[in-house]
Amino acid sequence: MPDQNFQKFIEELKSRNEIVEVVSAYCQLERRGGGYWACCPLPGHMEKTPSFCVNQAGQFFKCFGCQRGGDVITFIMEVESLSYMEAVKFLANRANMDLPELSYKDDWKVDENAKNRETRLKILKDTARFYVSNLSKPEGAPYLEYIYKRGFDQTTIRTFGLGCSTDYKSLPKYLREKGYSYEDMLSCGVVSYNKDTQEYSDFEAHRMIVPIIDSFSNVIAFGGRVIEKTDFAKYKNTRETSVFVKNRALFNANNIKKLKREMGTLPYVILVEGYMDVIALHTAGIKNAIASMGTSLTVEQARLILRYSDTVIVSYDGDAAGQKATFRGMQILKDAGLNVKVIAIPDNMDPDEYIKAKGVDAYKDLLLEAQPLIDYKLQYLTKTFNINDTVERRKFLDKALQVILESDKEFEREELLRKLSQITKITYESLKRDLDQTSQKSAYKPVIAPRQPEIHTDDEPDSALIKAERLVLSAILNGVSYAKINDLVGLEFSSQIRSEIASTILMLAEENKQISASIVTHILGEEYYTELNNILSLIDIGLGERKSDILYYEDCVKFIKMTNLETDIQYLKDYAVNETDVKRQLFAITKIRDKQNELHKLKTEDKL
Ligand code: UTP
Ligand code: MN
Repeated sequence: MPDQNFQKFIEELKSRNEIVEVVSAYCQLERRGGGYWACCPLPGHMEKTPSFCVNQAGQFFKCFGCQRGGDVITFIMEVESLSYMEAVKFLANRANMDLPELSYKDDWKVDENAKNRETRLKILKDTARFYVSNLSKPEGAPYLEYIYKRGFDQTTIRTFGLGCSTDYKSLPKYLREKGYSYEDMLSCGVVSYNKDTQEYSDFEAHRMIVPIIDSFSNVIAFGGRVIEKTDFAKYKNTRETSVFVKNRALFNANNIKKLKREMGTLPYVILVEGYMDVIALHTAGIKNAIASMGTSLTVEQARLILRYSDTVIVSYDGDAAGQKATFRGMQILKDAGLNVKVIAIPDNMDPDEYIKAKGVDAYKDLLLEAQPLIDYKLQYLTKTFNINDTVERRKFLDKALQVILESDKEFEREELLRKLSQITKITYESLKRDLDQTSQKSAYKPVIAPRQPEIHTDDEPDSALIKAERLVLSAILNGVSYAKINDLVGLEFSSQIRSEIASTILMLAEENKQISASIVTHILGEEYYTELNNILSLIDIGLGERKSDILYYEDCVKFIKMTNLETDIQYLKDYAVNETDVKRQLFAITKIRDKQNELHKLKTEDKL
């Protein structure tokens, strides 16, 4: 239950900090239509034409450029780079109000934005379940038939949570009955609103559905495919929302993460163009494929891939393998530090089609023959130019030398030059001279600077869970006496970065090495600076040796444990509902009971 007094205080605070007045201090607002407009004053967004709007009646702001928005507190958080509580203090000060007595728990509970995210994720999960259940209804029959026709079996359907939408109206109706507001449905992109008819409808109506799931098993979006030939787009994906950032999304990240955990390391992952290819490969027994969301590859995605493996085999559709965008994408992967290999599928087929036509073993043969990116580029050039023609041969040589220069390894350059000499029948020495000349003309620049710090785009303040996780890590890294490394054993963290920090600590402990913030920072590198800073700066706000500090720490550990248990229970429940094998179902139910007992014990445990 939220603290009544604190809620009241926040309402009072907002009414005494009129949003137009507050925002006016940061930019020149101009009244237009129903709102006040300005060029966006928020850090990180520079613009020449106003897309930032303040709504006085609703007391909120929204930037249509950078998509950030919220109430006056959110605005201060954004513009002054403050946490929720800091922004509250800032505004209280501005309005000459005294802060009420607060316990740290209030801080956890009033996190409205975190709740928004939670609601969105819940709607997306319920929507995914609804789509799954449609498959077993009579109206779902044609979609199920299509799925089978593509060669996907029940296991595949379950692994990927495939489903279908059979009409426009049932989804919004279903979600409404579950108590969600239309506003929330719109905010996560599952429904759309028609102004003329004033009706809400399923965004993916009449499509077979593939849920897009992140590495923490959250459903974040949907892909929908029509099952008959049409003249409109074959695929329709959820629009970008605060939970679905296409630049960062990788289809199959959840399964790849599990696979990596099971196997220890993944020798490589396969990058394909379409999520259907991922599903087809999985069905054929190749489980380490991923796909981006129909957009060109980004640095963020490259870094994500690097978490799963150091090698990526690019397996694009035959027709795309030689395109400029493809080469650019592959360069991004390489610049991020990945070892990039490429396979070309003959006859313009995509992986799915190739496996169907030639069998999975033929595809595995292609994987075995995957070429390093540079070799692939050279080979591509030899195919594109006619080297028997003198003019074309010159062009070919220029390009080939450029490609060879991309390698920063002496021996690799030599080897490639030798190959080039064989192809062109020009002596090695002469080519070497050309190469040296070319290298002076054009120093190779990477498409992106390698390993930039991760850009923080979360537009939501930190949830209670995030705060608890940070506090526990902070206490341990800062060597606080009551924080035991053993407390980390078995804890699951809600972000990949924080789980990696925790496992680094555990790894150091296992090797009996000293644990300190600087060592962990050193091992993990720049990408972790932002989060490590978030964690380490917590020491300032009270990780002392008082009894209340100890209780606070213990509460945080407990809170993480309880959240882990709740997640497990939910997972097992879903499992039990969908499992047809009675034995396994019973097993799941026993597990649920164990976890529920454990949870109950934690909840009722007496405080010291
Ligand atoms: P493809 O056209 O290669 O689709 O698009 P596919 O994977 O072979 O699909 P099937 O086999 O015909 O079912 C590859 C990716 O491009 C995006 C999707 O993300 C798709 O997975 N795409 C394609 C769209 O977003 N919209 C489209 O209309 C087509
Ligand atoms: Mn295909």
